[in-house]
Amino acid sequence: MIKVSAPGKIHFLGEHAIVFGKPAILAAINLRCVVSLNPNKTGKIKTFSRQLVKGKERFDAIDIAVSETFKFLKKPKALGFNLQLDSKIPVGCGLGSSAAVSVSVIGALFLLLGEKFDKKKINQIAYLTEQKIHGFPSGGDNSTATYGGLVWYRKEAEDLKIIEPLPFLLAKNLARNFVLIDTGRPKETTGEMVAGVRKLFGKRPQWTEKIFNDQEKLVKKLLSALKENNERLVMETIRLGERNLEKIGVVGNFSHDLIRQVESLGGVAKICGAGGDKDRSGILLAYHVKPELLVALTKKLNLNSYVVALGEEGVRQDG
Ligand code: PMV
Repeated sequence: MIKVSAPGKIHFLGEHAIVFGKPAILAAINLRCVVSLNPNKTGKIKTFSRQLVKGKERFDAIDIAVSETFKFLKKPKALGFNLQLDSKIPVGCGLGSSAAVSVSVIGALFLLLGEKFDKKKINQIAYLTEQKIHGFPSGGDNSTATYGGLVWYRKEAEDLKIIEPLPFLLAKNLARNFVLIDTGRPKETTGEMVAGVRKLFGKRPQWTEKIFNDQEKLVKKLLSALKENNERLVMETIRLGERNLEKIGVVGNFSHDLIRQVESLGGVAKICGAGGDKDRSGILLAYHVKPELLVALTKKLNLNSYVVALGEEGVRQDG
């Protein structure tokens, strides 16, 4: 049996500003999607998943990833196999679940077909798959699921994106203190949130540009803080980065108040990805030297939380 897994992702900082050419840092998380492949003699491809429902959610990502792989490698779909998918990444809340599905399916197929486990090619096919699923994805999710660790990401022009795996790991003390808090699915889609920020930019270009310039400075500060294991500066950049996200209207009242509660306990938190303004804002990235205090807070508020390690390994063979 072939087993391959790939991680989900979070936005460390730089979301939204990235649409306007500013850099962002993404990180792979230790919630993974595991794909098990067993060749069968029927010549048919059979797919199963405990979490994804056929005709709903992202089940189509499996079939699209399979066809894109055969097409890219110019191989006829002559092989039969059973594909079992087991994902711990919550679906539809900005944690890159569909990219992790694509990358792990493609990685498993490479092994089945006797191809070299070439991450560049796996990532290319995953991007083609993501385009079929989402239309115009940035490519950040699939690159983080493929390479893992931390990823520096910047869109220079529509057809030129710099996606660079960062050449260092997070210090252990930093990596274990992050908690993801699920505030609930936003009413708006990512596209609507991006459109809202674009509208704001149209109305107040200079004011918005100033915020994005500041966000760029914070992303660069965060980069050195992560590299140098400077916890105080990591917390400071997350706190100030969140203030900028609030100014551009992507943080709803519920999350705003929750973030202030986290701060009053001595932690920091920010929305993570597109956010949401009308009601809930999806996942928050939170940090505390005692992450258990944040877990206790979320339990009290009846919210789901995940203590996650950041900067985890990208796509890999598990068995
Ligand atoms: O919703 P997510 O987590 O995939 O993040 C969207 C991030 C944005 O910067 C708002 C949009 C983008 O395409 O980068």
